[in-house]
Amino acid sequence: MSDLKNIHEEYRTKLKEKLSLDQINQIKSDLFGKNGLISSQFKTLGSLDENKRKQFASELNKIKDELQNTISEKFKELELKKINEKLENEKVDITLPERPIERGKIHPVSQTIDEISSIFSEIGFSVEEGPDVENQYNNFTALNTPDYHPARDMHDTFYLDEQKEILLRTHTSPVQIRTMLKDKPPFKIIAPGRTYRSDSDQTHAPMFHQVEGLHIDKDINMGHLKGCLNYFIKEFFEIDKIKMRFRPSHFPFTEPSAEVDIGYEIKDGKIVIGEGDQWLEILGCGMVHPNVLRNVKVDPDKFQGYAFGIGIDRLAMLKYGINDLRAFFECDYRWLNHFGFDPLDVPTNYRGLSR
Ligand code: DAH
Repeated sequence: MSDLKNIHEEYRTKLKEKLSLDQINQIKSDLFGKNGLISSQFKTLGSLDENKRKQFASELNKIKDELQNTISEKFKELELKKINEKLENEKVDITLPERPIERGKIHPVSQTIDEISSIFSEIGFSVEEGPDVENQYNNFTALNTPDYHPARDMHDTFYLDEQKEILLRTHTSPVQIRTMLKDKPPFKIIAPGRTYRSDSDQTHAPMFHQVEGLHIDKDINMGHLKGCLNYFIKEFFEIDKIKMRFRPSHFPFTEPSAEVDIGYEIKDGKIVIGEGDQWLEILGCGMVHPNVLRNVKVDPDKFQGYAFGIGIDRLAMLKYGINDLRAFFECDYRWLNHFGFDPLDVPTNYRGLSR
């Protein structure tokens, strides 16, 4: 028998056996690899005379095709076997009882921050962030707060070092400084986040939330501040009319400064915002002090504007009828289940996703 016939016979027999993937790959490379048995036969073609070459070539091609087909059949068989084995072993037992699905709830403070951010972003404010651990310069000095100011006292501020250089920010106002130091005016930002003070009772927690607002441009005045806050409060409480009053106050970083109260009344044991003759303080604000602008290299003769700081937790309590601030931070799962928000339920005035 010729070489070719021997090879054909030998491998045809081999391929009838039960073979593993590795074995088939080995056979494939033995036959058709660079110096494989069949590949080498093709190399001999050139040395044959024409008649023989034709006949040998046709025989060689036939055998090559047959062996290749058998090999690919074998591959397919193995693949099928693997799939069947998998199907057999990974069968899902649909008679098992299902595992309970625990869907988390969104904390009312997170929900309120989302609502506030979407309301302000509609009127052109972008959202900035700053770190909870601040230096005393950004938290006090740059905000025109003198060394003797009571806010700097240990009774009020959590210091993280003996030199009183590093602290937990006592308000979100240092984000004003960070924002103005890193960019050029105009600025129109809000900065929601955590703030810390050494204080704890039914209406004060050592950690609480504020949102800072800052709008600086060439011709921003107190009228803009009033319009902006009026719009925000109406949108936030989803009411058409509110009673709002600006009460003169003092903050080192604004001049003039004001605190804003909104009107409310208690009807059937429930608080109704926007009506009545009771007043509730909800935020501090004012025109940014020229010294603050100087500290961040903004020329107060060219630029001016307003800033405000709102207590977020208080707003959330008012809007969602929660009466103890401490419950916010106790991580009681039952409380969260009751007051939290379903992540798949989009509240009516939440535009973050739908617009
Ligand atoms: N930072 C003040 C506080 O925590 C609140 C505040 C008042 C912020 C007036 C402001 C502002 O930006 O202009 O009590």
